[in-house]
Amino acid sequence: MNSSFQRLIESGRTAVAPSVLAADFSRLEDELAAVEAAGADYLHLDVMDGHFVPNITFGPMIVKSIRKLSRLPLITHLMISDPAKYAEEFVKAGSDLISFHAEAAGPGQGEVLERIHSLDCRAGIAINPDTPLSLVEPFLGEIDLLLVMSVFPGFGGQKFIAEAMGKARRASDLRAEKGHRFVIEVDGGINAATAAAAREAGAQILVAGTAVFGTDDYAGAIRAIRG
Ligand code: DX5
Ligand code: ZN
Repeated sequence: MNSSFQRLIESGRTAVAPSVLAADFSRLEDELAAVEAAGADYLHLDVMDGHFVPNITFGPMIVKSIRKLSRLPLITHLMISDPAKYAEEFVKAGSDLISFHAEAAGPGQGEVLERIHSLDCRAGIAINPDTPLSLVEPFLGEIDLLLVMSVFPGFGGQKFIAEAMGKARRASDLRAEKGHRFVIEVDGGINAATAAAAREAGAQILVAGTAVFGTDDYAGAIRAIRG
């Protein structure tokens, strides 16, 4: 993962991470093979606990199954209230990177980051559309990924909130200014039309659920999002 991230930053290329949430879970093996063949760079795994967000998806057991079914690096997006408590299970399940929400960790962001790194896993922080970048600024030198949410987390298929791109742009400027090495991922409402705004704001990884799994041409959808 280290080298895959480094290569990504150096290449200047936009990567696409299909969100498995929008896949047909009754045909998961075929779906994962299809997005891999269609040129996906990562898989984005949305874990929701029904507490931090008003929806429940899946836990480490499913991540472990997905690990067996795909060679793509797994970026796990924890939308859960107590990320420190469950980080280890998601590392053991095969996550290559674990991102947790700044709003969930509160003043404990540094400890959660340390916890994930101590498990020999890459770590990222996610911020909601209405969370200021200043909340995560003290940690920008320590994270491997900044996840800028362009919808309020909880559900796939929502409308892209373009205003959130100002934060991606500022994070990208700060990164250049301070020499940080984190990757910027934008998540929520990404499709062929909205992807351009995220790319222009400096995002390297674009997450797309509905816009990939909701079409019958995964390769075409990924290509259009990559731009
Ligand atoms: C939202 C999730 C997103 C979502 C993306 O809570 O974090 O990853 O599944 O789905 P689309 O691309 O449909 O907005
Ligand atoms: Zn997500």
